[in-house]
Amino acid sequence: MKVTVLGAAGGIGQPLSLLLKNNLPAGSKLSLFDVAPFTPGVAKDLSHVPTDVCVDGYTGDDLPKALDGADVVVIPAGVARKPGMTRDDLFNINAGIVANLVKNCAKVCPKACICIITNPVNSTVPLAAEVLKAEGVYDAHRLFGVTVLDVLRSETFLGEELGLSKAAMYVPVIGGHSGNTILPLLSQVVGAEKISAERVDELTKRIQNAGTEVVEAKAGAGSATLSMACAGARFALKVVRGLLGEPGVSEYGYTEGGSGYTQFFAQRLVFGKGGWEKTCEIGCLSDYEQKCLDELKPVLEGNIKKGVDFAQKWLQENK
Ligand SMILES: NC(=O)c1ccc[n+]([C@@H]2O[C@H](COP(=O)([O-])OP(=O)(O)OC[C@H]3O[C@@H](n4cnc5c(N)ncnc54)[C@H](O)[C@@H]3O)[C@@H](O)[C@H]2O)c1
Repeated sequence: MKVTVLGAAGGIGQPLSLLLKNNLPAGSKLSLFDVAPFTPGVAKDLSHVPTDVCVDGYTGDDLPKALDGADVVVIPAGVARKPGMTRDDLFNINAGIVANLVKNCAKVCPKACICIITNPVNSTVPLAAEVLKAEGVYDAHRLFGVTVLDVLRSETFLGEELGLSKAAMYVPVIGGHSGNTILPLLSQVVGAEKISAERVDELTKRIQNAGTEVVEAKAGAGSATLSMACAGARFALKVVRGLLGEPGVSEYGYTEGGSGYTQFFAQRLVFGKGGWEKTCEIGCLSDYEQKCLDELKPVLEGNIKKGVDFAQKWLQENK
């Protein structure tokens, strides 16, 4: 397996690359790319970690070298939120970065599974799909938005609430990755029947706004990086396990198709040799969750349209 990280020198990129260096199967290759000129130095640093994963780093015009032969590309390249900003405020800068990187993926590694971390994920993934379509290489089963940080946060907060091991929690989170499009299905958590309706509402809102908790606590120095690196590694390593043929590997992710709700939707995906192979039923919803789902649909549809509209304009301007 070759995994390429684009944006590898950033706040997420560096710890994500470390986790991949430590956890990819022996014999894998890890390739780092970032516009930051010290990226080969990040790769040199990681190369001293004693695992059987070969790592190299590129910057400048060497993006094609970083992507050559990649099976999985993970993209945290872009700018992060500052206090007072929503994920949507990042759109104009990050959309152009993602469009350009994905176009390069289409040309150099058209069969790679692309995992997008760059926000706003609700829009950057549909935009990436349009770029891949224009290059004639789009396969919905190989394009993902990484929303699993919402699952990590839900596991942590629910574990705290119920006094149970956070590591043993299982919390489904569906929808999208911004504000009220993040929908944790707390009614499906074993033990959650003890939680009052009022507290379920508070916990749901805390999960939806958890990214802002980090942005405010970092006071201008960025958004979640270490927990996001954990989430990104958990997701990418599962994609790799699926590609290697391990049966039954699954995780929540944002993709096109298979939901029946909105064109792109986060839900549990089962991975295989071709990317995600099937989606899992979302199961029974409480009345509260059904109301949240009804409310998130038009918001998510608007976010998706924003990505598609940007891509169409960008593709016209970058023929
Ligand atoms: N999906 C999620 O759950 C989630 C969570 C947290 C943050 N994010 C997003 O991840 C992104 C990165 O966050 P961060 O904290 O690592 O930011 P950061 O600023 O620390 O790092 C971003 C890196 O991207 C690089 N970069 C910029 N343009 C590039 C390009 N064209 N090609 C290659 N590299 C490029 C920068 O040089 C920098 O090293 C942001 O968009 C942020 O909103 C997503």
